[in-house]
Amino acid sequence: MSHLIAPSLLAADFANLQRDVEMINSSEADWFHVDVMDGVFVPNISFGFPSVAAVAKHAKKPLDVHLMIVNPDQYIDKYAELGVLNLTVHSEACTHLHRTIQAIHGAGMEAGVALNPHTNINVLDDIINDLDLVCIMSVNPGFGGQKFIENTYAKVRALKVLISEHGSNAKIEIDGGVGLGNAQDLLAAGADVLVAGSAIFGTDDPVQTAREMKAVSFVEA
Ligand code: DX5
Ligand code: ZN
Repeated sequence: MSHLIAPSLLAADFANLQRDVEMINSSEADWFHVDVMDGVFVPNISFGFPSVAAVAKHAKKPLDVHLMIVNPDQYIDKYAELGVLNLTVHSEACTHLHRTIQAIHGAGMEAGVALNPHTNINVLDDIINDLDLVCIMSVNPGFGGQKFIENTYAKVRALKVLISEHGSNAKIEIDGGVGLGNAQDLLAAGADVLVAGSAIFGTDDPVQTAREMKAVSFVEA
């Protein structure tokens, strides 16, 4: 499978969200990455339901929703109603992660778990076969435009081993500080999905940047 590109709408122009959604529709990007923050789990607030619904109305590519919120279980059905493809929750925010993952699947969505930079991949040991996606945070969640944490490469390589040892189908997604400068090394380490906010929307021609990220070739380590 070729790698996937998921532009993060957190870096889009919120006053021109329809324009930016249509721009990504016309690009070679694969998913819309939608960052939902509650001001509790992370020190920032981003999209609420009306905004995600507005994005869903115009998006012609699947929505990859990243919940940076406490108590995500109470909102699962609402995201399913919006037609979301992947719903990702944070391991650090879920006391009963297995139950939450089952609920996401029960609502008809693919289930992802995100890990903060300090969280070891071993917390997924007993649940990896239930997951469709693991989102490795390569910055501390809450804000776009932060510096990529270099330890991510080792973490991705270790996760790749964990996934293949268990025969899991989970995709590895990298989120934070990702761009053309590190895409190739991340793909070589085992990444399947690259999330990019400022690296795409912060360029003069986001469509061209998405094309270049999609075209990055690599040799698997
Ligand atoms: C951070 C979010 C990211 C963010 C990435 O908490 O989860 O998706 O938008 O932004 P960049 O690509 O600018 O680091
Ligand atoms: Zn994200």
